[in-house]
Amino acid sequence: MWKVLQIVLEVVGLVGPLPEHLNEVTVATATTKERKREQKEKKLDVMMVPGGRTHDQKHFSPALEPPKDLAILDPGFLGYLEIVWSPPANLPNATQCLTRYQLEYFDTYSSKWSGVRTPLTSHRVQFDLMKNVSVRVYTLLSGPCTNGKMITSKNYTKLVYKPPRTGAANTEVQDFVCVNYNMMTIECTWQRGAKTPDNAQQRLYFWHKNLERAQECPKYIISRGFRSGCQFTGTSLPLFTDVNICVNGSSPEGPLQAKFISLQIQNHIKPPTTEKVDVRAGPDSLVIAWEHPVGGAPEHCLEWEVERQLQGPDGKTTRELTLTTQKNLTLPSVNQKEKNCFSVRSKLQNYCVEKGLWSDWSRPTCLPGNDAAL
Ligand SMILES: *[C@@H]1O[C@H](CO)[C@@H](O)[C@H](O)[C@H]1NC(C)=O
Ligand SMILES: *[C@@H]1O[C@H](CO)[C@@H](O)[C@H](O)[C@H]1NC(C)=O
Ligand SMILES: *[C@@H]1O[C@H](CO)[C@@H](O)[C@H](O)[C@H]1NC(C)=O
Ligand SMILES: *[C@@H]1O[C@H](CO)[C@@H](O)[C@H](O)[C@H]1NC(C)=O
Ligand SMILES: *[C@@H]1O[C@H](CO)[C@@H](O)[C@H](O)[C@H]1NC(C)=O
Repeated sequence: MWKVLQIVLEVVGLVGPLPEHLNEVTVATATTKERKREQKEKKLDVMMVPGGRTHDQKHFSPALEPPKDLAILDPGFLGYLEIVWSPPANLPNATQCLTRYQLEYFDTYSSKWSGVRTPLTSHRVQFDLMKNVSVRVYTLLSGPCTNGKMITSKNYTKLVYKPPRTGAANTEVQDFVCVNYNMMTIECTWQRGAKTPDNAQQRLYFWHKNLERAQECPKYIISRGFRSGCQFTGTSLPLFTDVNICVNGSSPEGPLQAKFISLQIQNHIKPPTTEKVDVRAGPDSLVIAWEHPVGGAPEHCLEWEVERQLQGPDGKTTRELTLTTQKNLTLPSVNQKEKNCFSVRSKLQNYCVEKGLWSDWSRPTCLPGNDAAL
């Protein structure tokens, strides 16, 4: 099932300073003089210790090569790719040498280079398969064999992989959105592309870390005879982990352009609509209190927005919004003659999730009178 993708393998020349976000980076900046001396030492070692190697006084030559055989494997996880490489040929055979690799990849989601260091020769990273995948790997050497210093290969091995794009232009789905309705049902919906043929059949596939392979949508949403979304029930998609989605498809004219999305379900929660909003008038204030429907996201994660619509005797309406983390709000009453209507909506706060969706507004509760229509 793993297929080795076509690769462009290229060893590039000297590189500039390494990115700052990688801590403990020490670029090997041996001067020519030092390098010559170390090369001499190496030669001496070889001559002095025939047939055996001692590492005690020996320093490794700075001509450390970058890794070989860099490749990208696509296990079919809709963007979660495995990057593999082999150690360079000239690694010292040394128990006292610690070999590690610095993998750098262009994070297409944040448009920045990111990096990791690993003693292994493979690493998995999430990529957007609608963009080019660029990776580069350095060899790092440290330990007694380098006299405690970290040596970085001056060259890196680089690979740019262009994921295959099939399908005619403008056949990919548009306006793809997923909404997690109060952690009960998740619906992902889309619009057809401008050039999607009428007889095209669209398909949604998804994958996350608990799945051995990508799976197709359990239940399509049909509107006006076309597939327009996918419905997941209950806890079928895990929170706080990447869920990779691909919407592709085909028609007798050929494949549609695929759309890839990677998201985390907890950032798409839409709380249920608040049903009970109570407004009481005090001598010079109004107290608005509401109850949140039971179930769903923990209540301490929610914040509320209260909308006040004031209708003056002249018929003019003004609108005021107030955010709160409590389930009540006290506002000054302006004028007894004015009609006040209040609606409430809720959202998960960003201390619980990165992003939340607003619930729908509650039906307005008005004072005086409980006439909902303004
Ligand atoms: C680095 O790469 C360049 C170009 O491929 C090559 O000429 C040079 O010998 C390499 N240097 C090392 C230290 O491997
Ligand atoms: C590396 O070291 C091991 C153990 O000391 C030895 O068996 C092996 O032959 C060495 N290999 C090379 C290429 O020197
Ligand atoms: C991907 O790389 C190819 C050539 O390697 C280039 O022509 C193309 O513009 C790149 N695409 C993106 C989206 O960067
Ligand atoms: C759509 O994507 C799935 C999952 O990657 C794949 O198995 C299938 O062949 C694709 N279909 C088309 C028409 O490209
Ligand atoms: C408002 O809510 C807070 C805490 O949620 C509570 O302590 C307070 O008594 C409430 N005030 C009113 C007027 O209901």
